[in-house]
This record gives sequence, structure tokens and C-alpha cells, in this order.
Amino acid sequence: MYALVAENVSKTYENGTNALKGVTLSIEEWDFFALLWANGAGKTTFIGIMTSLVSKTGGTLKIFDHDIDRDPNNAKLRLGVVPQEFNFNMFEKVIDIVTDQAGYYGIPRSEALPRAHELLEALDLGNKKNAVARTLSGGMKRRLMIARALIHRPRILILDEPTAGVDVELRHGMWKYLKHLNEEEGVTIVLTTHYLEEVEQLCRHAAFIREGAVILNDTVKNLLSHQQNTSYRIETESLSSDLPVNRYGLRAIDETTVEATLSRSDTINDLVALLSEKGIVIKNINPKGNRLEELFISK
Ligand SMILES: Nc1ncnc2c1ncn2[C@@H]1O[C@H](COP(=O)(O)OP(=O)(O)O)[C@@H](O)[C@H]1O
Ligand SMILES: [Mg+2]
Repeated sequence: MYALVAENVSKTYENGTNALKGVTLSIEEWDFFALLWANGAGKTTFIGIMTSLVSKTGGTLKIFDHDIDRDPNNAKLRLGVVPQEFNFNMFEKVIDIVTDQAGYYGIPRSEALPRAHELLEALDLGNKKNAVARTLSGGMKRRLMIARALIHRPRILILDEPTAGVDVELRHGMWKYLKHLNEEEGVTIVLTTHYLEEVEQLCRHAAFIREGAVILNDTVKNLLSHQQNTSYRIETESLSSDLPVNRYGLRAIDETTVEATLSRSDTINDLVALLSEKGIVIKNINPKGNRLEELFISK
């Protein structure tokens, strides 16, 4: 049984932007799947189509065999979505945000309330149930969105960049919960992410989509075995404004950190020499040890 089957799904926005050019993708029940797309590649558009917030221009999409056009209610019942942007009422109480969501699925309040309490406890928001959403930290707001998405016990949970802006420690807590959902409760999980270590840690399959079409779809294990390059994270005193971004895939991470990707023929010495030439004082260099990221960059 497939949790999701997309056939030739396309989207052209009214302004002419061709965000999806025919995405064909099947995700099996129980999988933990990553959609790895570069920024602007169409991830949020694709998720918007699944939830009917965005109308597709072409193609078909089925959730557990229920066509989102012909059988939208059954498709929606099986689908939980955690959108990229916070979209709850910031002035509402946490418990109400989760409980009220049940109304969309015709779940009576008497049933929704204990479920909401259970979810908030599980997501470490037990002591925030009566807080107003606005007062929560970013990580807590993200977890609130997950609790809300699970109120109707969906069989597939889609998360659009769930750990963007969530600090490392909290990210690990969230991973643990998602793993539990997948392994213990049998929920199929699909996430989009920029953090490729997330894919290594969590996912069994991943698809890379470029310019609106699938360019790679494989097990994470197979994807990892194709790696060619090695990436390094370099801590500096400060970065110069003319970082030579066209060399070694150099990319600034923040004001003092830069990452570089060396192919087999490059040496660290060459990289150090280049940075020194630009007046950049290096404090530390560490291998990033994220092979999926290498793969992504090399595509
Ligand atoms: N409402 C919209 N109207 C027009 N263009 C849009 C709209 N939403 C997104 N786009 C464009 O569609 C493309 C894909 O965007 P998006 O789905 O947000 O990508 P991602 O989530 O992968 O960053 C981008 O070029 C974006 O600018
Ligand atoms: Mg997006």
C-alpha cells in the first residue's frame, strides 16, 4: 500500500512561475521519507497541493488510495500537515488550538480533549497547555503545530522544514518523537529539510527534486554510497566581505563560520592558503561528516 502517489503533478502560479513541472513520486506506507529540494524548488507548493491550499495545474495525487480531487474528505482524514509557517492564532491558548482543530474532522470535543492533553504531554508542552501561543518559544510553537497536526490520528504526517530555526538540542528531541511516531505508531512520515543530517538520522528514502522534477529517488543508504567529496566547517575570527564563493563551494554559515567542499583532488592546504590570502584568520577546521550533503552539492 502506498501512503502517497503523485503522478505528473504540476503547478504554474498565476504570475507564470512554473513551480512544479510534473512530479511523479510514490511513498510507501510506514516509510520515513525526505524531500530534498533546494530553496525555491517547490517543496511548499507540493505540500500545499496535498492539503488543497494550492490548486494544482495538472496531474493526480492520492493519499492512501484516496484521490485528493475525487475523494478529498477521505484523503484529508489520513493526512496531517505541519506547515512551514506558524499559522495558528497567537492569542489563543495552546490547549484550545489543538482541541479546536478536531472540529474540522468531526471529532467530538469530549474525544478531542483527552487526545490533546496526551499529545501536548508527549511533545513536552504539558506545562504550557494554558499558555497563550504567542508566549511560546520557536521550538515550542513548532511542537504545538505537530500536536495539532496529529489530533485526528493521521496515517501520514508531512512536515515542511520542521527543524528550521530549532536549536540543536531541541532538534534531537523532535527527532526522537518523530522516530517513535514512525516506528511505534506506524505513521508514515514525509519531511522537507535543509538539514541533511536529519535525513541521515531519520529517513529511509529520499528524493531530490530539481527544477520541478525528481532527479534522484533512492534509499538513503544507497545515496550515501555514491559520495565523492568531503566538506569542512571552518571557524574564523571574522569573514571578509569578498569570500571567494566560486572556490571549493565556499559558503558562509554565519558571521564567523564558513563551509567548504573539497573534491578528491583538492587539499586542505590549498583551502587554508586561499582563505589566508583573503585575510581570514582560521581558528578551527573540522570535517562535517555529512555525506548526504556532499551528494546534494555535487548534483
Ligand atoms: N503564491 C505564489 N505565487 C507565485 N509564485 C509563487 C507562489 N508561491 C511560491 N511561488 C514560487 O514558486 C517557486 C517554488 O516555491 P516554494 O514552493 O515555496 O519552494 P520551496 O518551499 O522549495 O522553497 C518559487 O519560485 C516561488 O517564488
Ligand atoms: Mg518552503
